[in-house]
Amino acid sequence: MDQNVLLKMVDITKTFPGVKALDHVSLTVEKGTVHALMGENGAGKSTLMKCLFGIYGKDDGHIYLNGEEIDFKSSKEALDNGVAMVHQELNQALKRSVMDNIWLGRYPKIAGIAVDERKMYKDTMAVFKELEIDVDPHRIMSTMPVSQRQMVEIAKAVSYNSKVIVFDEPTSSLTEEEVEHLFKIINMLRDRGVGIIYISHKMAEIKRISDYITVMRDGQWVATERAEDLEMADIIRLMVGRELTNQFPPKTNTPGETYLEVKNITGMYNHLRDVSFSARRGEVLGLAGLDSSGRTETLESIFGVRTRKEGEVYLDGKRCFNRDPGESIKNGFALLTEERRATGIFSILNIRENTVISSLKRHLRFGLWLSDKSQREDTQRYIDALRTKTPTQETKIRALSGGNQQKVIIGRWLLTEPDVLLLDEPTRGIDVGAKYEIYQLILDLANKGKTVIMVSSEMPELLGVCDRIVVMSGGRVAGEVDARNTTQEEIMTLAAKYV
Ligand SMILES: Nc1ncnc2c1ncn2[C@@H]1O[C@H](COP(=O)(O)OP(=O)(O)OP(=O)(O)O)[C@@H](O)[C@H]1O
Ligand SMILES: [Mg+2]
Repeated sequence: MDQNVLLKMVDITKTFPGVKALDHVSLTVEKGTVHALMGENGAGKSTLMKCLFGIYGKDDGHIYLNGEEIDFKSSKEALDNGVAMVHQELNQALKRSVMDNIWLGRYPKIAGIAVDERKMYKDTMAVFKELEIDVDPHRIMSTMPVSQRQMVEIAKAVSYNSKVIVFDEPTSSLTEEEVEHLFKIINMLRDRGVGIIYISHKMAEIKRISDYITVMRDGQWVATERAEDLEMADIIRLMVGRELTNQFPPKTNTPGETYLEVKNITGMYNHLRDVSFSARRGEVLGLAGLDSSGRTETLESIFGVRTRKEGEVYLDGKRCFNRDPGESIKNGFALLTEERRATGIFSILNIRENTVISSLKRHLRFGLWLSDKSQREDTQRYIDALRTKTPTQETKIRALSGGNQQKVIIGRWLLTEPDVLLLDEPTRGIDVGAKYEIYQLILDLANKGKTVIMVSSEMPELLGVCDRIVVMSGGRVAGEVDARNTTQEEIMTLAAKYV
């Protein structure tokens, strides 16, 4: 058993101002295994991995790789010594090419001076071929969708021939097909004896891919078990430290008369065709479908981010042109985007500023000054409601864990109290405990008579929260079901209608 041990982290402790992020945490990873690291938002998963990877210096504890003590001072040192990490937040040189990004900091050189572009191209192609990745190495990163950039990042980690590879929420922006592809890569690495540490909030993924599961809570180690010995409910209990009896709050809302009407939307530069549906006051309407079925494009077309070739949006029978997001906001719409990590966060501002920035009108007194008190109260209300883990409201948002940053952005849009709230994958990256709170806030809005339209790839979530579900397929509406009286099979059948 002991020769199989690849990585041993013992009693790792790390403190940030006002936060004990890690408190004597230990983790052992064997060769050729996938070890899942689980815990609520802010539990310390990313911090533990950053201590391994040389991004943070640990305050205390020891790390051994193949029996030898290591203490990397930089990520370059970690990579050179066989430890790679795919980060939760992509940090890429977007203006440069795919192959530049893979070999950055270790360019092959001719005579020690000029960069050997030919070798770089050849080596990139070799890695891509091995991993069956179909991307042109010369392509500029900024021209690619996030999911492909994520695959490049994964290829980069593999290209170092690492002994240990950390995946920190690698699938949050991948399509279903890409997730399968990633799992194939992970299985191949496992067969080669690589030790893999896998962080994710998606239970189904964890059950499928992992051999061992370690659970952390509030910066502490809670349990390590073989994956087959843990049921989903066990994992949840260990993570949240209390019994979560219900996954969804009761649907207390009663939809009223028709409020929003979307008529015959056809996209100018996308495949949306003749999309029509309506939503009522106080209704939570789900949009289901496979990846690239047009769900996100539909929300973006309603909100004026995408150009419509044809089609109209009506609110209470009145036409809304929604030519751009500014106009849509004035008309009472708000959109929480899927890409909120990239597009929603003002990283140098603090939690309060990030929370109130879209609802400053609420805090204006006599049109003259902004009330500090009400900003403080609103912010605290959402910190409490979403159980956002932060020492103070003045903490910079970039010091929060990935999931807690998301909660702040969700709070920001809920605070604008729009008449129509468009949510794209609202619980992605959010832990199981906090998901419930988000569902509750969605239902609260519906109870106030607001209309909520929500895109989600998690079917149980749509069934658990929505009143009605519109199913999209190949850019069109394939059908509509009553969420209280349908099955996953019925939705899947509709989702496959036009593919
Ligand atoms: N650079 C930093 N400065 C200050 N505090 C930090 C910093 N990085 C992390 N923290 C704090 O350390 C704690 C653990 O954060 P970490 O990012 O490790 O959580 P996590 O388990 O990865 O959560 P998530 O699931 O949301 O990604 C959090 O309370 C966070 O606010
Ligand atoms: Mg994290």
